[in-house]
Amino acid sequence: MKNRITSLFNIQYPLIQAGMIWCSGWELASAVSNAGGLGIIGSGSMYPEILDEQIAKCKNATNKPFAVNLPMLYPDIDKHIATIIKHQVPIVFTSAGNPKTWTKHLKEHGIIVIHVVSSVKFAKKAEEAGVDAIVAEGFEAGGHNGRDETTTLCLIPMVAEEVEIPVIAAGGIGTGRAMLAAMNLGAEAVQIGSRFVSSNESSAHQNFKNVVVSAKEGDTQLTLKDITPVRLIKNEFYQQVEKAYQNCATQEEIKELLGRGRAKKGMFEGDLLEGELEIGQVSGLIHEIKPAKEIVEEIISEFKATIQEQNSEKYTF
Ligand SMILES: Cc1cc2nc3c(=O)[nH]c(=O)nc-3n(C[C@H](O)[C@H](O)[C@H](O)COP(=O)(O)O)c2cc1C
Repeated sequence: MKNRITSLFNIQYPLIQAGMIWCSGWELASAVSNAGGLGIIGSGSMYPEILDEQIAKCKNATNKPFAVNLPMLYPDIDKHIATIIKHQVPIVFTSAGNPKTWTKHLKEHGIIVIHVVSSVKFAKKAEEAGVDAIVAEGFEAGGHNGRDETTTLCLIPMVAEEVEIPVIAAGGIGTGRAMLAAMNLGAEAVQIGSRFVSSNESSAHQNFKNVVVSAKEGDTQLTLKDITPVRLIKNEFYQQVEKAYQNCATQEEIKELLGRGRAKKGMFEGDLLEGELEIGQVSGLIHEIKPAKEIVEEIISEFKATIQEQNSEKYTF
């Protein structure tokens, strides 16, 4: 399949595995890239020397393009950027910050830059900052999100109407049908996070993977909207946060409750009670842990089958 995104990244399928803290290291990224999509290393949970090691391992495991996700809140971001440039990583997905800060510098080093947004306003700002494409992430998505609660179904066509650069849809996509729906709305590729959390190659703790495959509709919620909005499984930790809000806790008190390392505790160390478990609404549709290659193949074959179905009599008027 050929479009502006497959050409930009030099990949077979317009399917991107999202960069995810504690879940997407070199094993997942290289498996997805080897399967014809684009794999992304999530650098937001890595010390600089770990990222260096992860990129080197990814280069050994695939000769296909892969990317690094760079949340711009990361304290040692200049070290991460130096590592990315040293290894000549071809593509960077920036998120959680102002795309003006690093886009020019990365592009001067020949790196393709994509920025993640959750609103039309920030999509336009990212385009002005000179990024090559944007990821528009809807309210359904796992992990950190915008405050406006715009769903993928509404966000993608609105963003596609306002920018010239290619749009990659994210949030709530875990099947070939959803991929096609997003592309029918104006996206030229999809970025998929939650589905890949429960892949064999994901570095998420087994306990967390098990929670994802048993999650049902209604088991996640966007919370912490006054600090950094994030969609979580409604576990014991989530209930503590909700209780604090009900008791009119101040931001400082909520921050104290959060403490440090909650995401690592939940997603990487498997503490299902006290840890933060970031996952999207689509978890209700994920029933099996399987190899990333199979996930890519399943999504692409359902995507193709749905196109054929749409060309069938069922849709003739
Ligand atoms: C466990 C988890 C961790 C995430 N970490 C990051 C991150 O470090 N940087 C980022 O830009 N997005 C992060 N995200 C958001 C994903 O990149 C992606 O946009 C989102 O998962 C797409 O929605 P979906 O979960 O419905 O597929 C994370 C998502 C999950 C589920």
